[in-house]
Amino acid sequence: MRDPHQPGPTEWGEGRHGVGPWEEEHPGVPRPEDPRLDPELLAEGDRRNVVDAYRYWSRPAIIEDIDTRRHPLHIAIENFENDANIGTVVRTANAFAVDTVHIVGRRRWNRRGAMVTDRYQHLRHHLDTAALFDWAAGEGLDVVAIDNTPGSVPLETTELPRRCLLLFGQEGPGVTPEAQGRAAMTCSIAQFGSTRSINAGVAAGIAMHSWVRQHADLRQAW
Ligand SMILES: C[S@@+](CC[C@H](N)C(=O)[O-])C[C@H]1O[C@@H](n2cnc3c(N)ncnc32)[C@H](O)[C@@H]1O
Repeated sequence: MRDPHQPGPTEWGEGRHGVGPWEEEHPGVPRPEDPRLDPELLAEGDRRNVVDAYRYWSRPAIIEDIDTRRHPLHIAIENFENDANIGTVVRTANAFAVDTVHIVGRRRWNRRGAMVTDRYQHLRHHLDTAALFDWAAGEGLDVVAIDNTPGSVPLETTELPRRCLLLFGQEGPGVTPEAQGRAAMTCSIAQFGSTRSINAGVAAGIAMHSWVRQHADLRQAW
């Protein structure tokens, strides 16, 4: 468990992005003999968007480490019209150590919003909604659609399954009727203003954090 009196992720690095070569950061200290460390990063510095605990670690070593504590939470987003929010969803899923992000429909998606976090996140493509549901059934995962459509129940007061796949729709059509028909339930996020809906990436962040509040072990957080 992290000591609450020690600096947290926002204080680490004090505004600098990453670290320089090992010899500059640790003068006189020999390079550690740790197979998780990447010789190239040690030699040239590590400016990647990773938490300080992973500085100089190779990408496979980071993925392997997250794999030991990924949550039994999966995220799916329907991508029949090339949704621009998928990068945001992937980045948030990475932050919460989601098991896998599932892209349903078009294989291509705009990676810009992911800020390279997709390199550390398991991704899986499904041709259509039926393929996603068949896969989830095989894994024993309950699918919960997230949308504010008739028949939905409030996310704020609903217990989410621990082994769970949260499914999001795209701007415009929302979660397809087929998907909502097969989902164990549909959860809505309470709104109070004039807009019909919020951005899908924002909705995904809210819903993922609802799962975290209910099921994650916060002592494992950075
Ligand atoms: C921009 S919404 C579009 C659909 C929306 N049902 C409508 O009538 O306009 C895109 C996706 O964001 C998520 N979303 C947006 N607002 C939501 C809310 N208030 N509750 C639950 N999900 C929401 C859902 O996954 C939805 O499919």
